[in-house]
Amino acid sequence: MRWAHIFAAVTAAGSTFFMRWALLPSLDSIDEASRAKLHQAIRARWVLPLHLSITFLLVSGLYNFMMIMKTYQLEKFYHPLFGIKFLLALAVFFIAIQLIGKSAAAQKFQQNRRLWLNVNVVLMVGIILISGVLRQSVKTPKLEQPAAVAPAAEQS
Ligand code: HEM
Repeated sequence: MRWAHIFAAVTAAGSTFFMRWALLPSLDSIDEASRAKLHQAIRARWVLPLHLSITFLLVSGLYNFMMIMKTYQLEKFYHPLFGIKFLLALAVFFIAIQLIGKSAAAQKFQQNRRLWLNVNVVLMVGIILISGVLRQSVKTPKLEQPAAVAPAAEQS
């Protein structure tokens, strides 16, 4: 699950940075018709990896969170910080889906592609910084329940 989370996080963050600093500036050098064609071609290939990476992040992230809660006593700030990370991640997922979608609402979003990609880059950096703090936070193993005393041992 840790591997699944890291693979999906690398894909999500790497593709956001690529789109902002390589793809977006390159779009300026082609005409509107070619831009629309390119958008269609990218959409057809990227929609599945995007949805897979969101699913992996949610499933592995929630699983890891439940295992960590079960196993460790956490620092006071852990839960609020995790909550902030979770909300930021939902915002990133929403924006990423709008940027690739074909609904009327998504097309409105895409008119401000630069703005929303900038927002996603900033959110992504925040998420990665928060994740590092969560990872490094002090986690104290919860004490084992004392073993039940066997009835025979009690009598002797
Ligand atoms: C854009 C989305 C996300 C990115 C880029 C991201 C990135 C990361 C990174 C880099 C780590 C540290 C990995 C490690 O060292 O093992 C991490 C840990 C973690 N992430 Fe995410 N994550 C994202 C979304 C989510 C979501 C949606 C959840 C919950 C549903 C989640 C829950 C967690 C948990 C519980 C940890 C372990 C923290 C700890 O070690 O205490 N993440 N994430």
